[in-house]
Amino acid sequence: MKAIGWWRQGELAPQTGTAALQEALHRVNDSICLIDMGSEAGVGRGGTATIGPIDAAAGHLPLLAYVPPLHPQDLGDPHFRKRFRLRYPYVIGAMANAITSVRMVEASAKAGLLAFFGAAGLPVHQIEDAIDQLQQRLDPLPYGMNLIHSPNEPDLETATVDLYLKTGVRLVSASAYLDLTLPLITYRVTGIRREPDGSIVCPNQVIAKVSRVEVARRFMSPPPEKMLARLQAQGRINAEEAALALKVPMADAVTAEADSGGHTDNQPAISLLPTFLALRDAMSAQHGFTRPLCIGLGGGIATPQSAAAAFSLGAAYILTGSVNQACMEAGTSQTVRQMLAEAGQADVTMAPAADMFEMGVTPNSTIFTAGTKALRNSPPKTGPF
Ligand SMILES: Cc1cc2nc3c(=O)[nH]c(=O)nc-3n(C[C@H](O)[C@H](O)[C@H](O)COP(=O)(O)O)c2cc1C
Repeated sequence: MKAIGWWRQGELAPQTGTAALQEALHRVNDSICLIDMGSEAGVGRGGTATIGPIDAAAGHLPLLAYVPPLHPQDLGDPHFRKRFRLRYPYVIGAMANAITSVRMVEASAKAGLLAFFGAAGLPVHQIEDAIDQLQQRLDPLPYGMNLIHSPNEPDLETATVDLYLKTGVRLVSASAYLDLTLPLITYRVTGIRREPDGSIVCPNQVIAKVSRVEVARRFMSPPPEKMLARLQAQGRINAEEAALALKVPMADAVTAEADSGGHTDNQPAISLLPTFLALRDAMSAQHGFTRPLCIGLGGGIATPQSAAAAFSLGAAYILTGSVNQACMEAGTSQTVRQMLAEAGQADVTMAPAADMFEMGVTPNSTIFTAGTKALRNSPPKTGPF
């Protein structure tokens, strides 16, 4: 192997062997210098690396390869971290009935992550109580609430949006949508304004979570004119909001939700994310959006390796669900944590989402599917999941 430069030892001596190299690869905050030690390659710790065709000085060893540090906070898309004021490009997905609890949202925000409170399945007064606690404990740290499509309870969706607008919730995870709805558009468009420099500001941010290309396309487009006209006629939005809404996408970011513990369509991550990235590029060019639309990936991410794979595929951020359900902060029971800790890969299978069971959704449907993973032999679930 040809040398790319030279390495000079500092306080620590170089180490040899596979274990030393593996250990160095896991220290992601430090650079790695692979050096030629004569009979074998070694890992240089600390010291000074000089890259380039320079003459060797006494005590220098040939440098075979150099890997710069890569801190987890430098992964993904910096636009995403900046826009949502995060340290890490890492989202904790909403889990219904406050499984993603106030405690979990708080711990995540304080660690520099973004978490969505699991509002689905809760009555409005309980959601309001959670907002109250989060605003008291977190202000000004970022947090979000789940806005879940409720096909069987449209009034609940409207009431939830009204609550979010009344209490100043500025970020929602819009999930389980098969199409855009009037309450969702009301949330996105309310308060939209043009700044003196000409830029358009949407005070209410939306991160959509979808598994299907045709639904993703709607979130990557401005809201339909007809729906804006209806909302204006109903007095839910004003003329300026309706006009400016045509210049921005429905969502600030879209999470591609691959096969997962949530609503899913049996989509493999490895093909879903590239499809969404290509769609994002096409929609941004078509509509001339000025701000970058970030695309993240969720579904099956639970280890450093799967997180690294998602970022290698081009994810702006990653979203996790199941892996958080076993945390102490999760709003669940010790029995569930124990069952999850003991569950193996073959212990989970696809099941229809409870809220969509009545619609005839089955795990294998190809149209309007929205299954969810359930523990085999577990008792029937209550709430929307
Ligand atoms: C128990 C459970 C409940 C969930 N409830 C919701 C929910 O109410 N709203 C939602 O948007 N996603 C929900 N999800 C999906 C997660 O937010 C996330 O998208 C998904 O779990 C990611 O895939 P993973 O489980 O493979 O990590 C739920 C997931 C689980 C495991």
